[in-house]
Amino acid sequence: MEVIIKETYEAISQEAATIIREAILAKPTLVLGLATGATPLGLYGELIRIHRQEGLDFSRVTTFNLDEYLGLPADHPQSYHYFMQENLFRHINISPENVHTPQGTAPDPVAYCDRYEEEIQRAGGIDIQVLGVGSNGHIGFNEPGSSLGSRTRIKTLTRETIEHNARFFSSADQVPRFAITMGVATILESRRCLVLASGREKARAVAAFIEGPITSSVTASALQLHPRVTALLDEAAASRLKLREYYRWVYENKSAAQRWRAT
Ligand code: GLP
Repeated sequence: MEVIIKETYEAISQEAATIIREAILAKPTLVLGLATGATPLGLYGELIRIHRQEGLDFSRVTTFNLDEYLGLPADHPQSYHYFMQENLFRHINISPENVHTPQGTAPDPVAYCDRYEEEIQRAGGIDIQVLGVGSNGHIGFNEPGSSLGSRTRIKTLTRETIEHNARFFSSADQVPRFAITMGVATILESRRCLVLASGREKARAVAAFIEGPITSSVTASALQLHPRVTALLDEAAASRLKLREYYRWVYENKSAAQRWRAT
C-alpha cells in the first residue's frame, strides 16, 4: 500500500484530485467509484474547481457510488443521491445517464443489488474507487463482521455508525438502520483504490487497517490484499501509524520508475 501523509486535509484533497485529474486526462471514459461522508468533500470541491478553471471534462466519465440508505428516496436531503448531486454532480458536466448510485427505494432490493454488480461489470469495472473509512474501520457500509468476499447487498448498520451519521439527520432515530452497499470483494475488484482519512478520530481505524491484521472486524484491512491502493492521510489521521516516518521517507525518495501510472 502506498501511504501518503500530508500536513493538512486540504493537501490530501488536492493530491486525490490531482490523481483523478491525471487519470481522466489519460482515459476520458474513466469509471470512478465514489464515496460520501465528510471526508471526500474537499476532493469534490477541488474537482469542481479544476472543471471550472481548467475545463476538466467529465462528459464521458462514468460513476458508481459505494452505498445508499435503504428506504430513502433520491430526493431526500440525507440520501447519498442528494449528497452527490449537491456536492459534485450538479457542478460538473457529467451525463446523468453515466451516474450510478444504489437505489434505496428499489422495489426488490435484493435483486437490485445483483443488478448493480452487473452494471459495474457492463461499464468495464471501476478504474479508481474513492473511499473514506468509518471510525470502526468500515469501507462503504461494510460494517465489522462483513465477509471479505461480500458483494453488493443490504447491510444492517452498527449503533456506532448510526450515531456517527446522526449529525446529518435531525436525530439518531431518523438514521435508517439498513443500507445497500458494494461488498468488500466488489471494492477489491476496482483497479485502483484511493482511501482518504482525516482527523484524530480516524487515527485508530487508520492504524488498524494499514498496519493491523487482515480481519473482517476492520473491513478496510482487506485493502492490504489489493495491489494498488493509495492511502492519503493528514497528520492527525496518521498519528498512530508505527511506520509513519518510513512512509514519509519512501514517498520523498520515490524513483521515477516507482511512480504510479495515471490509470
Ligand atoms: C459512512 C459512509 C462511508 C464513509 C464513512 C465515514 O458510513 N458509508 O463510505 O467513509 O461514513 O464518513 P466521514 O467521512 O463523514 O467520516
